[in-house]
Amino acid sequence: MEANTVKKTMLSGIQPSGDLHLGNYLGAIKNWVGRTEAFDCFYFMADLHAITVRQNPADLRRRTLTQLAQYVACGLDPEKNTLFIQSHVRQHAELGWVLNCYTMFGELSRMTQFKDKSAKHADNINGGLFTYPSLMAADILLYQPDFVPVGADQKQHVELTRNIVQRFNGVYGEVFKMPEFYSTKEGARVMCLTTPENKMSKSAPEGCVFLMEKPEDIARKFKRAVTDSDTERCVRYDPENKPGVSNLMNIYAAVTGMSLDEIERAFEGQGYGRFKPAVGEAVIELLRPIREETERILKDKAYLESVYKNGAERAAYVAEKTLRKVYKKIGFVPRG
Ligand code: TRP
Repeated sequence: MEANTVKKTMLSGIQPSGDLHLGNYLGAIKNWVGRTEAFDCFYFMADLHAITVRQNPADLRRRTLTQLAQYVACGLDPEKNTLFIQSHVRQHAELGWVLNCYTMFGELSRMTQFKDKSAKHADNINGGLFTYPSLMAADILLYQPDFVPVGADQKQHVELTRNIVQRFNGVYGEVFKMPEFYSTKEGARVMCLTTPENKMSKSAPEGCVFLMEKPEDIARKFKRAVTDSDTERCVRYDPENKPGVSNLMNIYAAVTGMSLDEIERAFEGQGYGRFKPAVGEAVIELLRPIREETERILKDKAYLESVYKNGAERAAYVAEKTLRKVYKKIGFVPRG
């Protein structure tokens, strides 16, 4: 391990329930890469969470591996970050069960994600969907992280985790470190290209740019991106009244590093006709090396396997320490 033990720990997960897209990259993964040196980081493919809604097995497997390859292709160094597949580390399911017994029915009932998902999948409101947040709390607490970088939609789950910590530690002493929600930065909130009021999401594929997408498809999606019906038709940042253009500006800023002011000046008097393809081009060039590197890694099966095996081993080492402590505190007989 590093001599520098004062590094703070971070942990986050993404469900392999859809192909990764530009919103995942600019909103999350890109920031993860920048944190490698300053933090001790754990990132995992949340496949246990993914099965709370029905998945096609072959797709789940393919997406999980592709996602891992993409993390590495995006620049997350598997030597310096612990990258793993959730189901490979049994401690998640084990602590998840324990924490189920320290999470209240009322708390789980209040989770907006549960309400949304049970409305969307009315034919499959299973127990896992309901207790999802206890498992997420286990994911987090096994690694005793200081920070949990997640989107605003996951804040409620982190808060529930904090309640569980308080309840559990209140009974058994300082077992879990209190984790903190770590807000992912503003400018990187990527909205749907066709309905810019919504977050970019795989469920609206025409408004979503996937990391593995062909350049011509990316170009088409940006050319067709919804701009705004106001009469001035100029590139000006105004998320309230011009959500479409403002979203494209945020994307362009995140990709090029230009400020919003600089973008306004660069496209002054040019309307949307030049701006939209320019954003498309910038995104194509951003994603090209990531796509190529992902394809290369996916072909190198031995390497990919070594990444997830090492990751799971490192993760399990940390997770097991926490789990043992928990089992002891709650009164389980040590196996010896
Ligand atoms: N629930 C998260 C999401 O849907 C994914 C996730 C599962 C997660 N476990 C986690 C995120 C632990 C952070 C920490 O986006």
